[in-house]
Amino acid sequence: MRLGIIGVSGAVGQQMLECLVEQDIVVDELRVFASEKSRGKKILFNNQEYTIQVADESSFDGLDYVLGAVSNELSKKYWPWIKKSGAIYIDNSSAFRGDKDVPLVVPEINGEDALDNHGLIANPNCSTIITLMAIAPLLKLGDFNSMIATTFQAVSGAGNKGIEELNNELNNCNYQPKVFPYTIASNVISEIGSYLDNDYTSEEMKMMNEGRKILHHPDLRVSCTCVRVPVMRSHSISVRVVMDRIVDLDEGKRVINDFDGVEYRDELVTPLDASNQDIVYVSRLRRDLTNPNGLLLWCCGDQIRKGAASNAVGILKYLLDCKHN
Ligand SMILES: NC(=O)c1ccc[n+]([C@@H]2O[C@H](COP(=O)([O-])OP(=O)(O)OC[C@H]3O[C@@H](n4cnc5c(N)ncnc54)[C@H](OP(=O)(O)O)[C@@H]3O)[C@@H](O)[C@H]2O)c1
Repeated sequence: MRLGIIGVSGAVGQQMLECLVEQDIVVDELRVFASEKSRGKKILFNNQEYTIQVADESSFDGLDYVLGAVSNELSKKYWPWIKKSGAIYIDNSSAFRGDKDVPLVVPEINGEDALDNHGLIANPNCSTIITLMAIAPLLKLGDFNSMIATTFQAVSGAGNKGIEELNNELNNCNYQPKVFPYTIASNVISEIGSYLDNDYTSEEMKMMNEGRKILHHPDLRVSCTCVRVPVMRSHSISVRVVMDRIVDLDEGKRVINDFDGVEYRDELVTPLDASNQDIVYVSRLRRDLTNPNGLLLWCCGDQIRKGAASNAVGILKYLLDCKHN
């Protein structure tokens, strides 16, 4: 299996290397790419050293799969070169998520969609993955048509530069923010992404647009508020879903806990509990006091792992398993 990784030096790219080992993916040939800044630097994978290259038009030739962990603009730049090579591209950016012929996949929820690809598969938004992992199990007990979600997003959601910014602000109270629109240390910022005509942000609309596609639920309505919080790693989401019937809370906890990749906890979970591992933790399932069909829950997940790297590697694993079985 010949694999390329673009953006290997970033938060998601570095995590992908670990996830490949953890998910027992056998890689026969690996090519790693990043920017000019990283050209020539060495990375370790499976105790072997690899040199970071800057990709050109023929860099992907002969590869079977490429994992992408770069910006939308770069992903759009590299995709024609990957397409020409015939490799299957699994992209972490949001550049292609809305395209009709691009599957948007969380393996535990809609893994089979990955098989219907035209060479490009998109990894969903990090908060969307974590939220859907928490609520998809409830579909075993009934349907839901609407959801309200408030996210509490870690600074590493903006990559390594987000972590640097919080550290800089913690160490120097005069530090001027460069990555986030306001100071994030000792603060919260309810603005992630750019504002759209409906006064929601681009990040907030991903929950509905991507949720509809992943759950195959074109009528799902979602109102979302995305908030950046001074947490280094792991996103948390407060979610309300309105079911089409009254769901027994113990039944709800059971189906959530039984879902692959999710664990229900009777005690409170925090982003620290969720960090550095792939499980999405759910706690505080309770009845909505404004509607008996409504359920509220709290979930936390490591967004660099389940929200990005391990989900993308999980898609690759799904494709490889299907090929070999
Ligand atoms: N961080 C998260 O939690 C998260 C979650 C879900 C999705 N994502 C998405 O995943 C992607 C990567 O995010 P990240 O957080 O890993 O960002 P990051 O830490 O800022 O890393 C960005 C990567 O892009 C590389 N890069 C920059 N310019 C390049 C160029 N001209 N050619 C090739 N590579 C270049 C960087 O290489 P150098 O180090 O050489 O500059 C680095 O490896 C983004 O689309 C992001 O939206 C991130």
